[in-house]
Amino acid sequence: MTLKNILRGLCLAAAFGVSLPLSNWTRRAVAGTQQAQGDKPVEQTRKNIQVLKGLPESQLFPVMNLVSVSLGVKCDFCHVKQKDPAGGADVWVWESDEKEHKRIGRQMMRMTLDINKNNLDALGGYGVTCYTCHRGTTGGPRLPPLPVTVSGHEDHPAAPSATPSATPAAARPPRPTPDQILQRYVEAVGGRAAVAKIQTVVMKGTREASQNRNWPVEITLKGADKFSLVASVPQQGRITQSLNGAQGGWIENARGVREATADELAAFRNSALLYAPVKIREPFPALDFNGRTKIGERDAWVLRATSADGVVTRYAFDAETGLLLRQTTLTPTVLVPVPQQIDYEDYRDVGGVKLPFTIRISEIDTFFSSTRKFTEIKPNVPVDDVQFHMPSPPPKVTPKPKS
Ligand code: HEC
Ligand code: HEC
Repeated sequence: MTLKNILRGLCLAAAFGVSLPLSNWTRRAVAGTQQAQGDKPVEQTRKNIQVLKGLPESQLFPVMNLVSVSLGVKCDFCHVKQKDPAGGADVWVWESDEKEHKRIGRQMMRMTLDINKNNLDALGGYGVTCYTCHRGTTGGPRLPPLPVTVSGHEDHPAAPSATPSATPAAARPPRPTPDQILQRYVEAVGGRAAVAKIQTVVMKGTREASQNRNWPVEITLKGADKFSLVASVPQQGRITQSLNGAQGGWIENARGVREATADELAAFRNSALLYAPVKIREPFPALDFNGRTKIGERDAWVLRATSADGVVTRYAFDAETGLLLRQTTLTPTVLVPVPQQIDYEDYRDVGGVKLPFTIRISEIDTFFSSTRKFTEIKPNVPVDDVQFHMPSPPPKVTPKPKS
């Protein structure tokens, strides 16, 4: 499984049937960075695309958010916003090139593409992005400020004259193989036998997101392929998303019930995996060793998977406990890759397996970031299969024939 799919699931989950006061553009961005079915390139959906040709519409807003965050500005730094003379609401004139910053931005996009096109071998990975130079500002220093204390050939005056030799390789902890890291992960969760004993999980907690979009959620997992999520959304009531194994799935809200589409089903499957004890779909994908990192205070080993479409997912496992701490995904686009991140925190024992009580999802567009905090997770609660069956829609009231 790739993270982008999980995130798409979450985004869909956040969006379905929930008629939040989304602006038009956030609705469009709802599909996340995933290229949805029938996702047209922006030169077909937009009016003034000169550089970003081939970028799927669903990736336009994530990329624009990345540009904004890289410079530490809002959309209106480059784009014209007007007041609708009739209603007084804001109207964006995205296609307008009136602002100089947009024109410079376009030139910078061309420059970034040129740099990467000709130097990718030397730049390593995915090359430079707007952030490489801008670091969250529109300007920033271009030369080291004087006076400098350490130069190319002279040490800091306070530094001891003899540099201590690097730790000999033998003293370093041995580097585990990807297989060992994965095995330790499964053991850290509780081991195969304990995982197999978990037939159902019922989780209660809250989902928190920006603009006070906080509400209670209840999640039920049964086996590997039955999943339901019930959100109690203020002013909108209960929204249920359900996956019923091979039978498909459905969505119910105050307006009624309907079958889930193929994209939605894929999203539900990925959501289910997010709450399962082992959070990497088995059989495990090919993973290669990607070094060591720090997540907060914790040392972690990193494994990396690259999907056929170039999406890079990194899994960071606690070097001490073996548990999965973080999952990051880089989704390539025609301009710069879009990052996403899931943090698993507050692991506690639940019926012999370790489950995270906090799951933090971070997106480049903060509107789609959210945190799930659970107050109660119960294993092996009897769950009737009926719960996953699609409720029959209320009988249609047929008007009485006039006599
Ligand atoms: C640093 C400048 C800059 C910022 C900030 C920026 N954009 Fe853009 N945007 C551009 C440029 C340049 C283009 C045109 C790209 C091209 O020609 O291919 C563009 C194009 C667009 C388009 C397509 C317009 C059309 O009809 O052709 C939309 C929509 C858009 N941006 C939305 C956003 C949103 C939403 C934000 C804030 C999250 C944002 N932009 C922030 C520079 C910027
Ligand atoms: C190789 C380094 C580099 C990269 C990569 C880069 N920029 Fe820049 N950018 C600069 C420098 C340097 C300036 C000039 C800053 C100044 O005037 O102090 C600048 C200026 C700008 C400005 C004008 C800011 C102002 O206040 O006038 C915009 C807008 C901009 N960049 C957008 C982008 C965007 C969007 C990207 C990514 C597509 C990007 N830049 C990538 C180095 C870079």
